[in-house]
Amino acid sequence: MRRGAPAPAKTRLPRIHLRPGRRWIAPRPGETLLDAAHRSGVPLGSSCGGAAACAACVVRVLRGAGALGRRGAAERRLAEREGFAPDERAACQVRPRGDAVVTTGYW
Ligand code: FES
Repeated sequence: MRRGAPAPAKTRLPRIHLRPGRRWIAPRPGETLLDAAHRSGVPLGSSCGGAAACAACVVRVLRGAGALGRRGAAERRLAEREGFAPDERAACQVRPRGDAVVTTGYW
């Protein structure tokens, strides 16, 4: 690195805190929250395989909603059909870009 040149930007994986408890998972770039949870051994419901059809993967976002992006078309259809609250997201449709805190009714 040249002297005086800016240091290369360090990239850090987003961290998702699972409440209650002190468990964190770190989704890889482009990975869904559901896939990251399963890769990390966290039980998170899924019966449609991530097709935005079953709503078994719904999580409630306690903090960091902006880091999870907006609902895409498939998730919007699911949310409307299932009556999601504004803070609920389908984990199979969320690709975290920053830190957040989420929970479910069964953790
Ligand atoms: S896994 Fe079925 S809607 Fe997310």
